[in-house]
Amino acid sequence: MTAAARRLSSVPAFDVDAIRADFPILARQVHGKPLVYLDSAASAQKPRAVIEAITRAYTDDYANVHRGAYYLSETSTVAYEAAREKVRAFINASSTAEIVFTKGATEAINLIAASYGRAFIKAGDEIVLTALEHHSNIVPWDLLRTATGCVIRVVPVAADGTVALSDFAASIGPRTKLVAVAHVSNVLGTILPIRAIADLAHAAGAKILIDGCQGIVHAPVDVRALDCDFYAFSGHKLYGPTGIGVLWAREALLDAMPPYQGGGDMIETVAFSGCTWAPLPAKFEAGTPPIVQAIGLGAAIDYVTAQDRDAVRAHEERLLAYATAQLGQIPGLRLIGTAPGKAAVQSFVMDGAHPHDIATVLDRSGVCVRAGHHCAQPLMEVMGVPATARASFAMYNTITEVDALVTALIKARELLT
Ligand code: ALA
Repeated sequence: MTAAARRLSSVPAFDVDAIRADFPILARQVHGKPLVYLDSAASAQKPRAVIEAITRAYTDDYANVHRGAYYLSETSTVAYEAAREKVRAFINASSTAEIVFTKGATEAINLIAASYGRAFIKAGDEIVLTALEHHSNIVPWDLLRTATGCVIRVVPVAADGTVALSDFAASIGPRTKLVAVAHVSNVLGTILPIRAIADLAHAAGAKILIDGCQGIVHAPVDVRALDCDFYAFSGHKLYGPTGIGVLWAREALLDAMPPYQGGGDMIETVAFSGCTWAPLPAKFEAGTPPIVQAIGLGAAIDYVTAQDRDAVRAHEERLLAYATAQLGQIPGLRLIGTAPGKAAVQSFVMDGAHPHDIATVLDRSGVCVRAGHHCAQPLMEVMGVPATARASFAMYNTITEVDALVTALIKARELLT
């Protein structure tokens, strides 16, 4: 076998047309043009399997969970808890007691800040973040700082979007109680060396929280191999519904943490003299939970798990490499975020054109990109830009769509500059 043939045979086969056929929305047009959806980092489109699971749950099996003694409530409860087991297996957690359903990653991080933070982080204690965090992993800590007087330290980001391990080592110290970092940057695509950061945090006696919004999509996640303490993610970026997210935490931590919200389902006993709490994970799921959203997330996990994830990753890497090369040839366009080994997210700016105007012109060609600060204002400041345009790639995107992006950008450049 020649070297070229060996290289080819090591690239996993990937049938993007078959994948696209699973996503009904991709067949539609926008402004009379085929939809080119390049905003999956904001929210991914949904495969038919997820849409049908949601419809089926409402059509055939819907009732409130954990409450009814009747058949439908039992089947609904079984489906809801089956989704929890799917999440457990997906991230290799030890037990379903460690899987708390939330309405999204934002709520999961707020839960940690409000519960773990207020119980265990005191004035003068330090929380280490990075300059590339998005607002969900900044603002809850700012609120905690106001409430407790704790200190936030920020690990810098280099011009290419990398974050040096040595800067983590310099920022983590004996006062560090928590390191809270993104697995993958939503703006730059930088993948952080989580296991190495976790080792640094643990050596200092601190806990580590991973904001897995983008990381959970990018590659298989094994919370035990990462050796993190908390991992938070949203369903809607993982091809699942909105309104559902996951907080994974070590059981001992969840046990030690006070409830975040009070209400039905999270109690064992209620009396005006005082209440006691349900066992995990119910202690953190007050009120009627997002039942059908959890079932939809379970279907999304089934869908993702059924793919050859190495092939998906190789496909997304090919899209990114091609996009990087093509975008780099457009005069006046500057790529923001070029860290080695990054995920398939590409931000850029263009001389003389505001990212919002770029996105509006692209939209007329059916091309959807996000423009703005991407809920990461401090990072915009580090990069010296008020905003960027961002194309993010998912398993259903194609090389032809990258070409459509480039053609639309050339048109935008003519119109705007
Ligand atoms: N944080 C999401 C994004 O990157 C909404 O677009």
